[in-house]
Amino acid sequence: MVPQWIIEKKRDGHVLTAEEIRFFINGYTQGTIPDYQMSAMAMAIFLKGMTPEETAVLTDTMMHSGAMVDTSSIQLPKVDKHSTGGIGDKVSLILAPLAACAGLAVPMISGRGLGITGGTLDKLESIPGFNVNLSEKQFIETIHKCGFSMIGQTGEIAPADKKLYALRDVTGTVASIPLITASIMCKKMAEGIDSLVLDVKWGTGAFMRTVADATALAQSMVRVGKAMNKGMVALLTDMNQPLGRTAGNALEIIESMECLQGQHAGDDLMNITMALTAEMLVLGKQAATVDEARGMLEKIIASGAAFAKFKEMAALHGADVSALDDLSKLPKASIAKPFPAPAAGYLAKVDAESIGRAVLVLGGGRQKTDDKIDYGVGTSGLAKIGDKVAKGQPLVVVHANSEEKLAQAMAYVEKAFEISAQPVAAPKAIVARITG
Ligand code: URA
Repeated sequence: MVPQWIIEKKRDGHVLTAEEIRFFINGYTQGTIPDYQMSAMAMAIFLKGMTPEETAVLTDTMMHSGAMVDTSSIQLPKVDKHSTGGIGDKVSLILAPLAACAGLAVPMISGRGLGITGGTLDKLESIPGFNVNLSEKQFIETIHKCGFSMIGQTGEIAPADKKLYALRDVTGTVASIPLITASIMCKKMAEGIDSLVLDVKWGTGAFMRTVADATALAQSMVRVGKAMNKGMVALLTDMNQPLGRTAGNALEIIESMECLQGQHAGDDLMNITMALTAEMLVLGKQAATVDEARGMLEKIIASGAAFAKFKEMAALHGADVSALDDLSKLPKASIAKPFPAPAAGYLAKVDAESIGRAVLVLGGGRQKTDDKIDYGVGTSGLAKIGDKVAKGQPLVVVHANSEEKLAQAMAYVEKAFEISAQPVAAPKAIVARITG
């Protein structure tokens, strides 16, 4: 087969055969197809799309480009959750210990921040000593001991995605439904899970900007998972404003630990977390309905078991758990500056993208792949759409480690808020549930 003829076929909008997709992806993984041909192919897929059948073959080929995690020794139902990424999205940190307390095994392979979206691994690494780089053996042992573990993608899992993802990041080909589907699903299916719950985000802080695109992405991922005989549910959730009250690594750990101890019930963050975890419990047959599951989860939080479970997992990952009991031991920025409301009224907009950009320029995310994260910076005390605010009331507190970065971040923060004289309804946190 000739690589450029396959690129031309996709460029002209034709359907590729399974053999052509496998030839191309395997060649790229092994290095016989160079970056420039893969870049052209990624752009052709971005522009012309793929059929469900092509997407399924792409996912399967990328999954089989590396090893599968052997979870056969785990007897509990193995259920995971994956989010397509957003600002202030700390759901995994709360959901995984809750699900483990309710009887599931959660073998979670997470990612780092990407663009302006935060990453679970960076958040975990803001806890002193936390090691996200466990071997597969240690990963499985940790799950045997406490029901869940959260690690990074090892070199063995889906190497085709590792290579292709880095290429997409710099060739303008990230926000493509077949490419995102294959990228997420090849890693999740390699985890050896029985079922998967997806949190597919839409809005200014998400890769999918409209409900229609997010629906298409959710349907594409659910279809691929079901074809691989996995239990699948996707919730479509709002990412026009950041999730919860904080954005930035250590600040998000603080909010998550508070949530695990029963604070922030009723916030969008806890509403989404409870809904996703309840879906996991039903897929894993620990509850018959999502309502029953919610009742179980509320009791688990109230008993203190969820917070204890997170600390147990963190200790097994080498973390200094005293920093979770005394959150002042987590990394902290030297400057904390409130941003006051310029007028009285109701918050009509709290733009996720602007807050994400503010956190990035503060050093809470990476501008280059090898940038070091500044764990203490970010935003806290965020007011939410629909809140009634008085003139001068802080809408958010910006945490910075230099006056220069503070000024850069404030320029984005100023653009994030819009205040209306008329009352504004809070947006729906969950807009749809997709099962097929
Ligand atoms: N997360 C992934 O792992 N891959 C994508 O393509 C997008 C989000």
